[in-house]
Amino acid sequence: MMLHIPELLTREEVAECRRLMAAAEWVDGLTTAGAQSAQCKRNRQLPEGTATIARLREIMVTALMKNKLFFSAVLPKQILPPYFNHYEGGGYYGNHIDNAIRYAHGSTEGIRTDVSTTIFLTDPEEYEGGELIVEDTYGRHEVKLPAGDAIVYPSTSLHRVEPVTKGARIGSFLWTQSLVRTAWQRAMLFELDMNILKLRSQLGDTPEVVALTGHYHKLLQQWAE
Ligand code: NI
Repeated sequence: MMLHIPELLTREEVAECRRLMAAAEWVDGLTTAGAQSAQCKRNRQLPEGTATIARLREIMVTALMKNKLFFSAVLPKQILPPYFNHYEGGGYYGNHIDNAIRYAHGSTEGIRTDVSTTIFLTDPEEYEGGELIVEDTYGRHEVKLPAGDAIVYPSTSLHRVEPVTKGARIGSFLWTQSLVRTAWQRAMLFELDMNILKLRSQLGDTPEVVALTGHYHKLLQQWAE
């Protein structure tokens, strides 16, 4: 399941991020790539250990944790610190699948990468190319969203970023370990939750709505780790 989250960040938050990133030093993106993906990556990233990346990460994670769509679709157990990617002048990231386990910078605790999230920080009019292409069992998806919007997809999907042929594409990228390991179970819980919300707004808290809500929580209790 791929999920588009519109306006995850406000325009003010996007503007603050853009100011911070414009003043930052960027480094070669190969520092974070695995052995296979290192062969097909050309971009720049923000280095670890600066006040800039700490503030940017705070903005991203705070917005994600208060977003109801993200919470319901991802059921986050642990969010790895977001990265920030800068593509220009033909920069790209070829087809790859992300490592199943990642370690936060300086940490020895492995986090399972269940869900990938890309947050767009430049608008589509600012660059050419740079589409995020995700291929999964439901086919090929091409994603290019307004600044502040996010896309969420299972980390097991093959994906790439097309070459940026004009302008610059800046985005944030992060992995989440979910309380629910398996993608179809997360998709089912999400669909159930969204339909219960709709029923509640149409009917109020009828006994049936309350019973369905109970079923949602029983399923989550069974499936959550
Ligand atoms: Ni990737």
